[in-house]
Amino acid sequence: MSEIAKIELGGKVFEFPVITGTENEKAIDISNLRQDTGYITLDTGYKNTGATTSAITFLDGEEGILKYRGYGIEELAEKATFIEVAYLLIYGNLPTQDQLNQFRDSITKHTLVHEDMKQFFEAYPAKAHPMGVLASMVCSLSTFYPESLDPHRSAEAKNLTIHRLIAKLPTLAAWAYKNSTRHPFMYPKNEFDYCKNFLYMMFAMPTEDFNVDPVVVDALNKLLILHADHEQNCSTSTVRIVGSSQANLYATISAGISALWGPLHGGANQEVIEMLEKIHNDGGDVDKWVAKAKDKDDSFRLMGFGHRVYKNFDPRAKIIKKACDDILEKLGVNDPLLAIAKRLEQVALEDEYFKARNLYPNVDFYSGIIYKAIGIPTEMFTVMFALGRLPGWIAQWKEMTENKEPIGRPRQIYTGEVLRTYVPIEKR
Ligand code: ACO
Repeated sequence: MSEIAKIELGGKVFEFPVITGTENEKAIDISNLRQDTGYITLDTGYKNTGATTSAITFLDGEEGILKYRGYGIEELAEKATFIEVAYLLIYGNLPTQDQLNQFRDSITKHTLVHEDMKQFFEAYPAKAHPMGVLASMVCSLSTFYPESLDPHRSAEAKNLTIHRLIAKLPTLAAWAYKNSTRHPFMYPKNEFDYCKNFLYMMFAMPTEDFNVDPVVVDALNKLLILHADHEQNCSTSTVRIVGSSQANLYATISAGISALWGPLHGGANQEVIEMLEKIHNDGGDVDKWVAKAKDKDDSFRLMGFGHRVYKNFDPRAKIIKKACDDILEKLGVNDPLLAIAKRLEQVALEDEYFKARNLYPNVDFYSGIIYKAIGIPTEMFTVMFALGRLPGWIAQWKEMTENKEPIGRPRQIYTGEVLRTYVPIEKR
């Protein structure tokens, strides 16, 4: 017999169906709550609110499990390429060789951005944060492809928009960086795979040969896979809610990029390195900064620690910590910030305050360190996160539109003035 939840209000009992997911997670379906009872639920920060049902990503924060379309993140990070994972997230299954070839060819074909867009870059100040540039550029793509504005276009036309976006994001991201250094833009090299091509556009110079250590390409592939989706987080929920108004995909993803920028979300990887630099410049006294993080009168938090849903450990952090150790050893990196990071990790993992609150290093604690080791400038860290998260955002948008979900529109409990009468300015 299916489970029923009962709510008693004003002496009356109301019944609501219980929905069970394929991993046995449960939800009370309150879609009729207001209509039946006149009440709404209140859940600031959506800590207990399921906004949708989804078949893309499963995560269990208590057990530290993360799966894309049923495949464990550990296996994907070890065996797959980022492009394969992108296909898996967006289309639901791992591609056959033919499907992968077609997907890769289509993406390779669309890596160039319109020449006129170069002028946009040049108009930004050199110090412009690349996340601001990226969000604007992605939204600007909609002006070059006006057909993408039609929410009722064919599935084929929607696929073209998806492929264009995946193809162009690395070009836009690398050019945002090149522009900040006032170095010449490097055009994509389609003989390279997705990750190598991005590194080429970031680091190559027209006057020099380009060589990149395969260890660096592998590390980037892994990092992008680990960031590819994370169910209904802040930026993904933004994507779903903006997309629910039938705004075009470019505008929708641009909104996701903006949401990701915040220091409590994707911006944390940049904050981690800035925090380590601050501690280093202050003499490297880790205990002092741990004490500050624990002090409720001090606004300082240990960036890269804690997570809204992982209350045991972040499975991505486990994989990335190993990758981090490997790459630092292989590249022979010797950075004083890394010693501080290791000490911080150790102190925080042993300290009662962090243990009691289940505050473990999250994926961004280590991703910042790897990005630094492979030469990515700090301000580009969140851009790297956006590159990884793109297939997840697209998959979530596609699922939402295909399921014909209604426009997202939460309610509120009003706490303002009831009724006031207008008073002319001279009498106020
Ligand atoms: N340093 C010190 N104390 C912390 C930290 C931290 N990084 N994170 C949480 N706490 C404390 C809080 O002060 C609070 O203590 P209290 O119960 O004594 O009041 C308790 O732990 C719970 O914290 P909340 O802020 O309620 O937890 P919430 O789930 O709302 O926030 C968040 C999660 C935003 C990730 C938080 O842990 C944080 O700010 N971390 C640092 C920023 C960061 O690394 N963000 C990246 C997240 S991963 C991602 O987006 C990809």
